Amino acid sequence: MTIDLVIENGTVVTASGALKTDIAIDGEKILALGTRSAFPKAERVIDAKGKIVIPGGIDTHSHFEVFFMGARPQENWDTGTIASAIGGTTTTIDFAPQDKGESLLDAAKRQLARAKELSVIDYTTKPILNELTDLDKILNGMKEVIDYGIPTFKAFSIYRKQGWYADDWQLYKFIKQASENGGMMTIHAENCLIGEESQKELVKQGKTDPKYHGVAKPNFVENLTNQACMIIAEALRARTYIVHTTTKEGPGIIAEYRNKGLPVFCETCPHYLWLTEDLFEPKLPRGIMYMCSPPLRKREDVDALWEGIRDGTVHTIGSDHVCYTKKQKEEHCDTFADIPNGFPACEVRVPVAFQEGVLKRKISLQRFAEVVSTNAAKIFGFYPKKGIIAPGSDADIVIIDPDKKHSLNAADLHMGTDLSVFEGMEVTGWPVVTVLRGKVIVENEKFLGKPGQGEFVKGKLDDSIMATV
Ligand code: URP
Ligand code: ZN
Ligand code: ZN
Repeated sequence: MTIDLVIENGTVVTASGALKTDIAIDGEKILALGTRSAFPKAERVIDAKGKIVIPGGIDTHSHFEVFFMGARPQENWDTGTIASAIGGTTTTIDFAPQDKGESLLDAAKRQLARAKELSVIDYTTKPILNELTDLDKILNGMKEVIDYGIPTFKAFSIYRKQGWYADDWQLYKFIKQASENGGMMTIHAENCLIGEESQKELVKQGKTDPKYHGVAKPNFVENLTNQACMIIAEALRARTYIVHTTTKEGPGIIAEYRNKGLPVFCETCPHYLWLTEDLFEPKLPRGIMYMCSPPLRKREDVDALWEGIRDGTVHTIGSDHVCYTKKQKEEHCDTFADIPNGFPACEVRVPVAFQEGVLKRKISLQRFAEVVSTNAAKIFGFYPKKGIIAPGSDADIVIIDPDKKHSLNAADLHMGTDLSVFEGMEVTGWPVVTVLRGKVIVENEKFLGKPGQGEFVKGKLDDSIMATV
């Protein structure tokens, strides 16, 4: 018998910690861990000596091909997911906003069809509940989507002008309906009234520069809605996931309810783990590029989020990848409230976590693998198919060279934009091999696969697995 692939001599991050072991892969699956000499002969052997081997990254939060705030990223599913793969991500959990009058299932299928045609990594989606005029239609539609194998959704507690704002009644109904039918709401938590009225007031006063973004939406604006969602989750004993948490208080708010035994989870993003609000100045050429919601915060918030990762109260790192160009940001920059929100980040998500977490803050390799991969698989319902290096699991594997330095300038990255919010910065530690279901799809930043090779990953939430996060 000959097997397809062996990865030998690496430091492999497994469920029981980082250890020296070889990995046997046959077809799309991991066959065994152990010593190469005990494995059958392999078609190919990759020597991972001196390298870190982790389960393929799972991005909990990408926005490929969406139209939002007057602009559509130039990048498509193929170029976007090639960048993800180069950066060590093998599965993405994307979003499907509803078009006018569209059912949730149709929105999901539309995004899945684009991904099926173009994605180079595995994928699923979260329908965004934004066609809010007919609440019953949405609630009925959620069940249909969960049965289709897509158990998670997103709602926004803000963005009134864009028509995406769900009020407290709607959020309550969504959290209830999702959880009662085997699903989970993920929520963009910012208090709409205070955040958007403050925006208007500031603009009226002529305070239109990017630095006023954080003045309009300080920590408490995010914490208020985060806390409200937790109170609702407790009342309903419902699964609830807060996306892109930025504040130093956020992980603690969620942990209070987690500690009561509730299935509630906290996500943050690479930019909130490194960048700070001083980047908002000056407006040009810099400040407008750093517009995302919630806003960048202070160094103390960055530090607290890392402590949350260390102590296990921050569960996942999602990229919140929205790939606007500099021109697209500039075209809508009259006031900070008009600038399209979001950053390109799908490629740098894993490397930033490695550099700032493992190297700088001495986060353990196991915790690193949990926040970039394992916890996502557990929370979104596809563990142990993904998120773990173990026999029987999909052979989604990333080999990181911990000594490889890499610039984060847009020109040195592969995302479909000339904008990098990490311009001028560098990481140490970069993926050198990415394996998707047994196939080497990236080697030394060279993409070796083809568009459409990614597969839809069905999810089924399992409370006993979620409880292990
Ligand atoms: O600024 C952000 N996060 N833009 C993307 C849309 C969202 O809120 O997730
Ligand atoms: Zn959001
Ligand atoms: Zn987002």
